[in-house]
Order: sequence, then structure tokens, then C-alpha cells
Amino acid sequence: MKLCVIGTGYVGLVGASVFSDWGNTVVGVDIDAKKIERIKAGDMPIYEPGLSELVLKNIKEKRLSFTTSLKEGIADAEVVFICVGTPQDDTGAADLSAVWQVAEEIGRNLNGYKVIVTKSTVPIGTNERVKEIIKETSNGKVTFDVASNPEFLREGSSVEDMMKTDRTVMGSDSPKALEILKELYTHLNSPIVACDLRSAEIIKYASNAFLATKISFINEIALLCDRAGADVSVVAEGMGYDKRIGKAFLKAGIGYGGSCFPKDVAALFRTSTDQAYDFRLLRGVMEVNEKQKYHFVKKITEKLGKNLNGKVIACLGLAFKDNTDDIRESVALEVIKLLRGLGAQLRVFDPQATENAKGVLGDLDIYYAKDGYDAATGADALCILTEWGEFRELEAKKLKKVMRGDIVFDGRNIMNRDQLEVAGFTYFSVGRPAYAVRQSNGHKSLKNRVTGALLNFSK
Ligand code: UGA
Repeated sequence: MKLCVIGTGYVGLVGASVFSDWGNTVVGVDIDAKKIERIKAGDMPIYEPGLSELVLKNIKEKRLSFTTSLKEGIADAEVVFICVGTPQDDTGAADLSAVWQVAEEIGRNLNGYKVIVTKSTVPIGTNERVKEIIKETSNGKVTFDVASNPEFLREGSSVEDMMKTDRTVMGSDSPKALEILKELYTHLNSPIVACDLRSAEIIKYASNAFLATKISFINEIALLCDRAGADVSVVAEGMGYDKRIGKAFLKAGIGYGGSCFPKDVAALFRTSTDQAYDFRLLRGVMEVNEKQKYHFVKKITEKLGKNLNGKVIACLGLAFKDNTDDIRESVALEVIKLLRGLGAQLRVFDPQATENAKGVLGDLDIYYAKDGYDAATGADALCILTEWGEFRELEAKKLKKVMRGDIVFDGRNIMNRDQLEVAGFTYFSVGRPAYAVRQSNGHKSLKNRVTGALLNFSK
């Protein structure tokens, strides 16, 4: 099939390369000429495992090409994907200016029947407007159909997610458009949900909002565990074996971030308000997420003091999650700003996101370390802010040797508590108070349990 993908961000670039790898001929379009040159040279504008190899392979095999000309890009395409950004505007709604602009340009350059598909995350009714715009700008001379085909890929594993999707959602009022899209995806052998435009648009938002709800839910359970003396990771495990609940997205931490969840939850809430509906649950989800970082910082100030002047804190993690260099809406950066605001000297490290973070934190007089041990050197406390697997591999004894202090605040519950405690650290996490974990590990020390319980109830 001949395809055109407009926009070379996460969704567009991954989409274009995977579509071409499936044997389709794909032209990727972006107005940013420098970006296009970088991509052609195999220098990806984003860090995404497997992406560079996939792009170069398909360019070499002549299935994938890039251009800055939308007219050229859509000329031979049977299906045109709109994958441009829809950032959050000041009111919490999605800024759709890029979508409208692309729709106009498609209309002006339409040279034959095509299916115009929106992959960008867009609010209810957007595809209907896209249809109107294309109709207006093409002067009704050419036939076309519009479809919604939202993407569910996660940054950091987007290539794999797209290759092995759980489901494909496609919405359109045209049976012909749905048939064409089915042909593109049918080899995946995963369920296809074919529906109307508006349902497809809501499926995307509802999916992200539901996952965000799971995270805020477990974060509240974690706060309860901290008070009641239970271990949230065991609670999540116990819940997760129930297939109706599932284990995914039940990891407590300092809150969700990234370019999707915060924006999409706010946009769905805004859409509900526009429909004169107060989506109270979503309000709670956002509020819990906003507060989560403050609970974490409070734990730090309770131990180190409210004035952090003279304290050196090592912060591991800058990206909004592991396996990405993306720092958009990163809670790690929020925590770093709060700690710096309280006077702490910070030594920070991230395996991929340091350069991006410098752009945001640059003037805060922060030391950017070359690895975890370098960050920990001379520190009074160590904070884990992003769930990078490699932080787990840090040797507790070696950390203890280079640090001045002996406290670890694990905002992602990823470190090995036993190893840290054996090395002489005091370990704090999110929803796993010390004595509860000892119990769940099978250490039945009554003294620990009673002391822990007394400490908790005296709070
Ligand atoms: C999310 C969705 O998971 C994708 O399905 C969707 O396609 C994408 O948004 C999008 O709309 O484009 P992504 O933003 O890449 O993907 O990141 P996630 O892996 O979902 O993580 C989001 C945030 O939640 C991160 O800050 C992560 O640290 C946090 N998180 C995740 C938790 O705090 N706990 C968990 O159990 C899982």
C-alpha cells in the first residue's frame, strides 16, 4: 500500500518506519528541513530503542523516504496519516492548530481519492472538522474519506508496541475507508475495533485516562500503606493477579508525567466540561497526581530538615520515565526544582535525558554527573526519581563509600532495600514502610513490627 505520514514526532516517525517495514511504500513529511536531514542520516531526533536501525533499513530498501513537501508526500498515497502534535493550551484543551493547518494543505493538494487518517490524539469532533476543512479547501473536486486511528504506543518501547499491538482502533463513517485500513493492519492478528469517528476519538482518551487513574489509585493506596504500615508493592501484586484488575500500571511512585497522560487527562476533563458534564473522578486523578511529588519532598524534609541549605542531594533520573530522553512534564524535574528551591545542592544523573534537562534546569547551578556513583559522591542523600533499570544495578557498598550520608529516598520503589540496609543505608520509599516490608519478606521480628506500628500511629 502507498502511504504518507505527516509529522515525524514519536507517533509519526515510528508509524512511518513500522508501516514501511510491513512492506508498504511510505513517505514521511515534516516542515522541519533540519529534522528530515537528521533522520535521513540515521540520527534520530528522539531516543527510541530500535528506531534508528528500522529507519535506515527501510530507507536502504527504498520503502521509506522523507520530504518537506506535503504536496509531494501525498501525491501517490492511498492513505494519509496526520501525526502532528496536539499540545495542551492554557485552558487545558488540546491545541489543534497544527491539525487544522495540515488538513487545509491536504485539501489544497488533493489529487485523487484518499483516506485521511488522524493518528494524533484529538478531542471529540476533531475528525468531523478535518473532513469539513478538506472539503472546503479542495472545493469538493475530489472524493476522500476521513478516519480516526489512534495509537497506543508507549515511549521507550514504541517500535515493539506498534509491531505487537493489543488492538487496533479505527473509526469512520465510510465502510470503504474502514476496509482499506483493515487491509493495512489485518496481518497483526490482534482484535480490530471498527467504529464511528467519535467513539474512536474517545477510546484513545479513555484508555490514557484509565491508566492514569490506575496510577493515581495505587499512589493513594501507597499513602495509606505508609500510614497503616503495609507494603504497597505486595498490595499491588495481590490485586494484580486478579485478571479483571491486572498488574500493569499499579506501580506507586512520585506521579505520572510525560507528554500524554497529564495532557490527555486534562483534555478529557475539559471535553467533559464542554459537554456540561463534571467528570469528578478525573478531577481526583489529577489532584492526586499533582500532590504526589509534595508527599515525596515532605519525606525528604522530614529527615533532612526544611531548610536544605548545605545539604548535598544526588538525584538519579531526569526523564519522565525509563528508556527515553523525553523530559516533557517529567515529575523528576519538578522534584529537582522543589529541592533546589529549598536550598539543596544537587548532583543529578540520567542515562539519556541530561542534555534535554540542561535546557530546562540550566541556570539552577546543578552538577550534571557522568554516572550514578559520580552523582552520589559527597551526597548526604540519594533520590531515585525515574525508574531506569540500571539504577537497580548500582552497588550499595560502593554508593555508601562515596557518599557523605546514608539515606536513600526511592521515589520509584525500584531499589533493593535489603542490600541498601545491609550496607548501612536508611531506606525510604513510596508506600513501603520498613517494618511492613520486613514482614512481607518473611522476617517476623515482633520488635520491628511493634516499633514500626508505634512510629506510624504517633505520626
Ligand atoms: C502513554 C500510554 O501508556 C500509551 O498507551 C499511549 O499511546 C501514550 O501515552 C500516548 O498517548 O501517546 P507514555 O506517555 O509513553 O505512554 O508513558 P507510560 O509508559 O504510559 O508512562 C506514563 C507515566 O506514568 C510515566 O511518568 C511513568 O513513570 C508513570 N507510571 C507508569 C507510573 O507512575 N506507574 C506505573 O505503574 C506506570
